[in-house]
Amino acid sequence: MSTGMGDMSGAADTTQEPPLAEGHTSDSEGLERPLPPDARSQNASRRSVRDATLGQRLHTAIPGGAHTYAKGDDQYPSNAPTAIVRGRGCRIWDTKGNVYVEYGSGLRSVTLGHSFPRVVQAAAAALRGGTNFLRPSPVEVECAEQLISLVKAADMAKFTKDGSTATTGALKLARAYTGRDLVALCDSHFFSYDDWYMTITDADAGIPVAIAELTLTFRYNDIASLERLFAQHPRQIACVFLEPERTEAPQDDFLRKVADLCRSEGTLLVFDEMITGFRWHTGGAQAVYDVAPDLSTFGKGMANGFSVSALVGRREVMELGGLHHQQERVFLLSTTHGAETHGLAAAIATMSTYAETDVIGTLHEAGRSLREIVQVAAREAGVDGFFRVIGRDCNLVYETRDPEGLPSQEYRTLFMQELLSRGVLAPSFVVNYSHDEKTIEETGAAVREALDIYRNALTYGVEQFLVGPAVRPPYRRFN
Ligand SMILES: Cc1ncc(COP(=O)(O)O)c(C=O)c1O
Repeated sequence: MSTGMGDMSGAADTTQEPPLAEGHTSDSEGLERPLPPDARSQNASRRSVRDATLGQRLHTAIPGGAHTYAKGDDQYPSNAPTAIVRGRGCRIWDTKGNVYVEYGSGLRSVTLGHSFPRVVQAAAAALRGGTNFLRPSPVEVECAEQLISLVKAADMAKFTKDGSTATTGALKLARAYTGRDLVALCDSHFFSYDDWYMTITDADAGIPVAIAELTLTFRYNDIASLERLFAQHPRQIACVFLEPERTEAPQDDFLRKVADLCRSEGTLLVFDEMITGFRWHTGGAQAVYDVAPDLSTFGKGMANGFSVSALVGRREVMELGGLHHQQERVFLLSTTHGAETHGLAAAIATMSTYAETDVIGTLHEAGRSLREIVQVAAREAGVDGFFRVIGRDCNLVYETRDPEGLPSQEYRTLFMQELLSRGVLAPSFVVNYSHDEKTIEETGAAVREALDIYRNALTYGVEQFLVGPAVRPPYRRFN
């Protein structure tokens, strides 16, 4: 489904920037009636946003032209900015000086808004005092204590720089604790760029079969699919991994049933709260649904875009990575940069802002308002069967469907393209704390116009309206 919900997306496939078409790629020849002029794309009238030289340099120096596949050229329409030079609040500027309202900032890690003063000041102050030392710094324990105080199921915390290493650390710990090798993953959730997860996608080149054989999958909200795994592999599964919620809310007490099954099998339950943490609740989605995992991982949302992620959990399990036990040692998350002072200072400032201000309530409120505006716009444009906003208010994504009602990357591209031409960069509608009412209304106006074009595309064919190639599925075998 083309929901744009993955922050891990497909590889960029070009070394050459795709040319920006002059307006529509085709005229109205062959159509039954001419297109209404006011519903045509505004791309033709906007100045170019592509920076071809920079685009070429990016792909010459960096495989994929970016450091997360989700930022790749193949994930955006051809009128997307080549690169972003700065951001403030919910706005960003491209290399040509164009300004955009942005949604899903920093792959959802920038929850307060770009260059949020309190966070920047805290990080800058830490930077001036030195970034990395030979022994721990007090900022490490301050940050750990703060995180532990917010997350109920966290007795201990260990920091690292990205979400993937945190989840891989959780898996290693679970394997060591249980003495088992198998891992059960929710098949529609993303956990890591590491082999144990990527093996369930089509992008599995370079992953040994021996690793692939250790990963099993089950379906979200389908407790029978997990029961089957336990029946097939009794007392052999080290841990069950899932995001407590993605776009679909848990039904029929699903999370509690998963927790009960895990307990009866001696399997550890791991919640990946990379997205839900500090967005659903300061205590994570586990606080919203009142289910305690053995281990959980946090990242995006912890430090307003600074590189900080964490593995937290029950002391008995976490302590295996410590020095005060007689069991076999687990060499757990040991990285040179894991305790960079400025990142942890940024995390403390971010978590303090969450604790002192109703950030979460504001995110939900802004999302609720945007959802309503978009839903009305979709109804008024007559496309509500084809374009739909889904997900929790604080984490909205959209589905795009073609005239047959099938999920469509082409229509997703068209919608993003038309928003971009109106100054909105929105692979999702994930808000941050800096999206104010006025900005939401401005976005609503852009959405209304974009959906008028969407409706025309449903009538006349999407290819008439696309100015460049359609976006591609993120996990694919070939470019
Ligand atoms: C739920 C979830 N888990 C883990 C990760 C991996 O995090 P990172 O990109 O920091 O390695 C992501 C990233 O999108 C994610 O959404």
